Amino acid sequence: MPAHEAERRDPAVARLALASLTTLKVGGEAEVWTCDHDGAVRDATRADFRVLGGGSNLLVGDDGVPERVVRLGRAYADTHALDANGDAWLGAAVPLPGLVRRARQLGLSGLEGVLGIPAQLGGAVVMNAGTRFGEIGDALQEVELMIDGRVERVAAADLGLGYRRSALPPRAVVLRARLRLTPSTPERVAQAEEAVDAARRGQPKARSAGCAFKNPPGDAAGRLIDAAGLKGCRVGGAMVAHEHANFVINLGDATAADVVDLLERVRAAVDVPLEIEWRRWGLAGGDPAVPGWDHVAALGPGGGAPSAGRGGA
Ligand code: FAD
Ligand code: EPU
Repeated sequence: MPAHEAERRDPAVARLALASLTTLKVGGEAEVWTCDHDGAVRDATRADFRVLGGGSNLLVGDDGVPERVVRLGRAYADTHALDANGDAWLGAAVPLPGLVRRARQLGLSGLEGVLGIPAQLGGAVVMNAGTRFGEIGDALQEVELMIDGRVERVAAADLGLGYRRSALPPRAVVLRARLRLTPSTPERVAQAEEAVDAARRGQPKARSAGCAFKNPPGDAAGRLIDAAGLKGCRVGGAMVAHEHANFVINLGDATAADVVDLLERVRAAVDVPLEIEWRRWGLAGGDPAVPGWDHVAALGPGGGAPSAGRGGA
């Protein structure tokens, strides 16, 4: 769609099953606002909201969520700004797999470590997605955020990136990210990707949201869950994968309640405390919604629910 056309468009609003927008394929409905320009994001975030990327690290409750779910549309998903020079601003809805492929074709190094991660660029920044071979933060220079209706640039160094975490300013929506990749050759990039691909080969192909738990310091959650004999452990349609014990998969008809029950059984059976890696919406103890900025303004300076924590969470 030409940019001028996108700029005129109101957000497309539809009531959708979030199960259809997440890789785990569980979760009830919400009003989904798909935005194709910054003005539309501004409008969509005036009321309480949540931000959806690729939905690949998300467990949504069976009743869905009452807040708006804001999604960036195709205008934020173009990879063409990345050229052989390797320094580019890209929209936050760019799918990581396509970006990794384009970088390889252009002979650009820096994204090999995120091979195989089914995220969008914005969600990858929020989770600092990666593997032991590298994470998105390695290539990230700065981001453009929508915060309470304003667009602000923040340097990557100020985003609090760590192992599967970021500390974005409260109420931030990632609109764009600037990556800097290093000129190399397609052959060398493909060669570096081989080790990452090999490390991923044992992971299940079934519906999941990736690893359910973060690795505790000095150990691997998958090893601990496996050692507790939990592979194949099942609640309803949710099961601990046989291929890799840190993947909880949806056998087809899992509900969020099944998944939550299974996660609790796993935690109870493992001696070491395990922290859930997935973002959780519409569930007890899950991520609070982000207050809309009109609401925040009404509360006065510094307003907003203290529990709101990180933007977009
Ligand atoms: P979502 O799941 O949609 O959202 C995650 C969080 O980011 C939410 O809090 C959401 O509100 C927020 N968010 C998303 N987009 C924005 C935005 N534009 N602005 C503000 N907030 C936003 N992860 C790894 O790190 N390493 C792996 O190796 C890996 N392997 C995986 C393999 C499979 C098969 C699957 C299904 C998942 C895997 N994951 C992995 C998990 C997941 O892909 C990552 O956590 C990823 O970063 C999530 O990105 P997303 O765009 O899908 O975000
Ligand atoms: N292991 C077992 N049994 C299992 C699974 C693993 O004993 O069922 C053992 C392995 O033998 C190995 C150790 O646990 O000794 C670690 O396993 P693996 O190499 O598969 O890596 P991981 O730590 O389980 C991490 C990330 C993955 C990422 C891979 C590849 C976390 C929580 N997981 O897995 O990320 O893809 O490395 O680098 O950090 C994600 O975050 O969603 C994710 C999939």
